[in-house]
Amino acid sequence: DKGQYRHFMAKEIAEQPEVVGHTLTRFVDMTSGRISLPAGADFDFSRLDRLAISACGTAYYAGLVARYWFEKFARLPVDIDIASEFRYREPPLTPGGLALMISQSGETADTLATLRHCRAQGMKIGAVVNVPTSTIAREADVVFPTTAGVEVGVASTKAFTCQLAVLAALAIKAGRDRKVLSEADEARLVASLIEVPRLMAETLHLEPEIEKLASAFAKAQDVLYLGRGTSYPIALEGALKLKEISYIHAEGYAAGELKHGPIALVDENVPVVVLAPFDVLFEKTASNMQEVAARGGKIVLITDAEGAAHAGETFATLVVPKAYAFVSPLIYAVPIQLLAYHTAVFMGTDVDQPRNLAKSVTVE
Ligand code: M6R
Repeated sequence: DKGQYRHFMAKEIAEQPEVVGHTLTRFVDMTSGRISLPAGADFDFSRLDRLAISACGTAYYAGLVARYWFEKFARLPVDIDIASEFRYREPPLTPGGLALMISQSGETADTLATLRHCRAQGMKIGAVVNVPTSTIAREADVVFPTTAGVEVGVASTKAFTCQLAVLAALAIKAGRDRKVLSEADEARLVASLIEVPRLMAETLHLEPEIEKLASAFAKAQDVLYLGRGTSYPIALEGALKLKEISYIHAEGYAAGELKHGPIALVDENVPVVVLAPFDVLFEKTASNMQEVAARGGKIVLITDAEGAAHAGETFATLVVPKAYAFVSPLIYAVPIQLLAYHTAVFMGTDVDQPRNLAKSVTVE
């Protein structure tokens, strides 16, 4: 039931504060302010040498964000692959190591094939899944559930941010298990994580402003998305969302990579969405943004109030609430979803059922 919404995607975007909050209650003990994994999923990360993550599409981008978290908070090296590539790369796997699958549907054939491959190599299988009765959930040793509820829109939105919430909690837990994080560190990270639903709700208020950008985006042939650090996977996700539902060609790049080629594409017809929270990486990203501006690119900057104050001239600046750097991917996911959504609505495409795509891809 779409309720008051025109599309399931709109409803699912709007539901995020609630479902991310719900997902977090399963992973955080609100009284102690510490991570507490759900019953049956109390995995101990202390003895791992590496973590191997596999997933497809949007779930893969959640994994890319998680790599930064596991490496930073738990000093745990992460290998991450697109599931359809994983087996053919023939990576050396450690028996007894953990292979982590991420999947909304739990039925994605490529991810399932990787799960079975890893199991055959003697690895333990963890799965971040949204459908608890799915094949991937059934075949995994440990299930870390997202509780996003049923996601109908083919373009994944709330499942993605719930995946990020679970992965953030797991990275903190890994940091505790591996004695990288002190109790105070954990408390600080958890405190910033439980602020996320409120910050997401505030971010949703940008919708009218974002809707106004739709006509400019609808005219574009190509759109670039740039980000550094954990904003880089969000740039990839922004480009995927726009491609899927508006059919406009879009690419996400690490902001520093622009000058190594893609800047050749930039002219006054190319909107460039820059994801840049005011953190330690801001100055660098801002200078990449200047390179784009110098070539006439239409910059849409997504940042917080401080970032907006430090940025030069842009085509549009969307100001999201200030958040701890750690949780910014969950916040910045919201405006890129809304931007794709309103562009597609403006163009009149079938938002919930885009051409050529299926909600769950059960062939390899
Ligand atoms: O169900 P899964 O999470 O395993 O699906 C993976 C991808 O097929 C999925 O994320 C796809 O990329 C979405 N259409 C993205 O919006």
